[in-house]
This record gives sequence, structure tokens and C-alpha cells, in this order.
Amino acid sequence: MYSLRCIECGEESKEDSYNCECGGLLEVKIHLDQVDLDFKLNGKDLSVWKYRALLPVRIEPVTLKEGGTPLYRLERLEKELGIRRIYVKHEGLNPSGSFKDRGMTVGVTKAIELGRNAVACASTGNTSASMAMYAARAGLKAYVLLPAGKVALGKVAQALMHGAEVIGIKGNFDDALKIIREVCERLKIYLLNSVNPFRLEGQKTIAYEIVDEIGLPDRVVLPVGNAGNISAIYKGFKEFLELQLIDGLPKMTGIQAKGSAPIYKAFLERKEDITPVTNPETIATAIRIGNPVNARKALRAIYETKGLAEVVSDEEIISAQKLLAKNGIGVEPASAASVAGLIKLAKQGMIEKDETVVCIATGNLLKDPETAIKVCGEPKIVEASVEKVISLL
Ligand code: F0G
Repeated sequence: MYSLRCIECGEESKEDSYNCECGGLLEVKIHLDQVDLDFKLNGKDLSVWKYRALLPVRIEPVTLKEGGTPLYRLERLEKELGIRRIYVKHEGLNPSGSFKDRGMTVGVTKAIELGRNAVACASTGNTSASMAMYAARAGLKAYVLLPAGKVALGKVAQALMHGAEVIGIKGNFDDALKIIREVCERLKIYLLNSVNPFRLEGQKTIAYEIVDEIGLPDRVVLPVGNAGNISAIYKGFKEFLELQLIDGLPKMTGIQAKGSAPIYKAFLERKEDITPVTNPETIATAIRIGNPVNARKALRAIYETKGLAEVVSDEEIISAQKLLAKNGIGVEPASAASVAGLIKLAKQGMIEKDETVVCIATGNLLKDPETAIKVCGEPKIVEASVEKVISLL
């Protein structure tokens, strides 16, 4: 059993709404006292749907086997920073190559449950790739609005190949989201951005899986764009706490890119809401967002867990992307912001030495091949001869 509730006034809302009448964000309230916990926290068979008892769907899910992503240890970085345990959860190994699949398996299932035949989103890329994939699986029409020229190549390719109607606008993500919200309202299309509270329900399973595998960490560090994922993961931990499956909460630590950092700025001033950034910029196009819709939820997650917010430069992002790659972990720039932020915070002495930290790597290296080649340089080209090749080695 579950209901939809406003995070500001507490009023209940209908299942197909995205905002309360008071304007507040909505949240799914799972009635935890009525849940039959039929899963074991044994580190085995991790997946989004292992935790179906805590997910708000009534029909068989539209699934491509999402979740169950690996948690890698970064021993060399632990030594370098003097931190006890550093893990990376590689969400780039989901079906479409990002954590968005956890949300889409639930969101697209909800679209079917509500009898909708079309879904839509604005996106910096990954949401659109994931939505197109799950809509294709479910046989729904998919409409995508992107900031033209600012979306990594792999993501556009995915949205197109999976059959979405893809439109680029001459504006940024924040403009695209504003437009698609109104389009969805007028044309009765189901909106699958992270204002949709059901999508965040799928993403909260990142927290469940971390606990399932290693127990309660001291800190979770992740990149923040539209601020849905930090809110979702926090909600997952909070539910486990309420169910007494853990006895505390990790410090939620959100990292933004320097040119796109409204949440960091609000955090510095201990504010509960943001002032939007009008021209967000960063090499990490996935988090090139100036007006995150879930800002209020995200700031609560940070304050209520005594977490942190930090900003990183494009150089710090690329350097962390290369560091991860040298450890065998291929991620896109936005994902590396988590590790870049951890390094920066550790060097400032903001991380305790005995912490267990989990960084979320949100998307796969292959999402953004152009940036990878730009920062690594093109391969050398030589005549087709053994001697020439050896001369280069
Ligand atoms: N990392 C990656 C790779 C992303 O694609 C996103 C968001 C984030 C981090 C930030 O997550 O928005 O929940 O704070 N991408 C969205 C999209 C905006 O359209 O694909 P968030």
C-alpha cells in the first residue's frame, strides 16, 4: 500500500499528478507497516525488483533487468587519501548505461498501469536514452526534448535508435523541462522527468543495494543535476531506517559542476531553496542544469544527514574520469564528479579517516565518446608495417 503526498503541506494527491495544489513536490509514501518484507539482505541477486515489496506498482513490471550493478573498491585512492574504504557503484552498467533505468522500469510500468500510450521527457541525454528504451520495450510512443548541441553523442544515438521522436530546442535543459511539462499537460502525455515521484522510487533501490551488499556506509557521494537521484537515494536509506534494517543514515554528499551549482550555493548559505543559475555551463553536459526541480528535496537530504555539497571544475572532473579509467572503471564526465568531489573534500580534511564512502558512478564512458577522444587525443596512425608499429611502442 502507498499514497502520494506533498513534501510541503502533507496533503495527498491523485496518482497521476506531479505537483501538489500548493505547488510542492510530491513523494510516494509507502505504508511500511503494511509491507511484507519477502527479501533477504544477503548480498545476493541484487536488482531493482528484488525489493518489489517496497515499490509502488500493481502490475507485472516492464523490465530489462536493471540494477544489480557492481560495487568496486578503490584501494589505491584509499591509500592516497588516507580514507578507510572507498567504493564506486557503477551505475553505468545498467541496460541503457545509466542509473536512469532504475527509475524508468518503475515509471514506464506506471504509465501502463495508468493506461497511458505515450511518455515524454526533457533531458540532458541519459533520461531520454533510458526512456526511449523502456518505452520501446513496452510499445509506448516516446517524445524527447533536448538542448540542441549540448547532449553527448551516445545518448542521442540511443534515443533515436529506440524510436523516440527527438526534438532539439534552441535553449538549455531548464527551458526544455519547462516546455515539456506544459506540452504533457496539454496533450495528456505521461511525463517521466524526475518530478515524477514514481521514477524516484526505482532509483531509491541504489540505497537498498548498497546496504544489501556492504551494510550502512558512512557517506554516499554523487553528482547532482536535477537533484532527483540524491533525493531518491536518501529516501531509500530513510525507509530502511524506519524498517529498522539499518541504524543510521549516510551523510548525503552532492557534487555539482562549477558553472552549474545552484544547490552548492544554497548549501553555503544554509538555505532551503535555490536561486536558479541562468546560463549553466560544464563539460559534464549531463549535469548542465541551472534550475533543479528537486532542489528542496535534495537540500533536505543533505541537511538531515549532516552531509555536504561541493563544486568541482571541468579539470577536476576529467582528472577523476581518467583516474577511474586507470582503475578499470569507464564512466562519463558527470559520473566522475562524484570522485572528483570526494578527492577535493578529503584534501580539505572534510572526510573522516575511518569512513566507508560510496561514490555513485552514474553513467557509462561510451555515452560521451567525443569528450573522451578530445581529452585523450586521437590514436596515432602509421604505415601498415611491423617495423613502423614497433618504432612507436
Ligand atoms: N549523472 C548523470 C550521468 C546524469 O545523466 C544525471 C542526470 C546526473 C548525474 C544527475 O542526476 O538529475 O538526478 O541529479 N541526467 C538527467 C538527464 C538530467 O536528463 O539525463 P540528477
